[in-house]
Amino acid sequence: MQDYFDTVAATWDDDPARVKRSRRVADAIRAAVPLDDRPVTAELGAGTGLLARSLASELGPTTLLDASPEMVAAASRAVAGLEGWSAVAVDLADAPLSGGPYSLVISQLALHHIADVAGVLVRVFEATAPGGRVALADLDDDPDGAFHSNHEHFDGHNGFSREHFGRWLREAGFADVTFHDAGRLKKDVDGAEREFGIFLAVARRPLA
Ligand SMILES: C[S@@+](CC[C@H](N)C(=O)[O-])C[C@H]1O[C@@H](n2cnc3c(N)ncnc32)[C@H](O)[C@@H]1O
Repeated sequence: MQDYFDTVAATWDDDPARVKRSRRVADAIRAAVPLDDRPVTAELGAGTGLLARSLASELGPTTLLDASPEMVAAASRAVAGLEGWSAVAVDLADAPLSGGPYSLVISQLALHHIADVAGVLVRVFEATAPGGRVALADLDDDPDGAFHSNHEHFDGHNGFSREHFGRWLREAGFADVTFHDAGRLKKDVDGAEREFGIFLAVARRPLA
């Protein structure tokens, strides 16, 4: 789907529903994670950085990571005025996170595009500072694959069960894993409106 994300990058932020959803996920992060120390942050599969930008006044230096060169270009333009912010091209499927250590790693609707999520979470753990947190939002289990049914080349996960996702976080080394509802996403599927749940998984890298 990488080509698809390249083609939609320049107009990604024009969809008001996407902007509103990012604000809702940002609110869920605020409610679950202390941000008073302006954490050094990475956003995974950031696209144009809508999620991190919704939290901009509370975050410290922030790195937006994405595999799509056009998304990275759009993100770079969007954060040009934010001191300490940058956007970096990286394929998280097989590369470590650039930069770090991070005291906060966030993500929204990106990890379901990557086959080996457990492997990504191990690399996220390695890039998270002791005591640092992750706050990862993604699709709840979508067993019939309706969410991506109109994406011919989609080969990712049809959402996640919270139980599996939590297990992967704990296996990567994270502790204090909690799940929160982070809103619902409406989408037209074959002419009918469907709703899909979004979870926010929060966890902490232990100090030792
Ligand atoms: C559905 S979009 C979400 C973008 C953004 N998080 C948002 O909510 O607006 C998924 C994003 O994940 C990125 N992505 C997919 N696979 C990736 C990978 N292996 N490594 C890094 N980014 C990836 C895509 O390029 C795309 O920008």
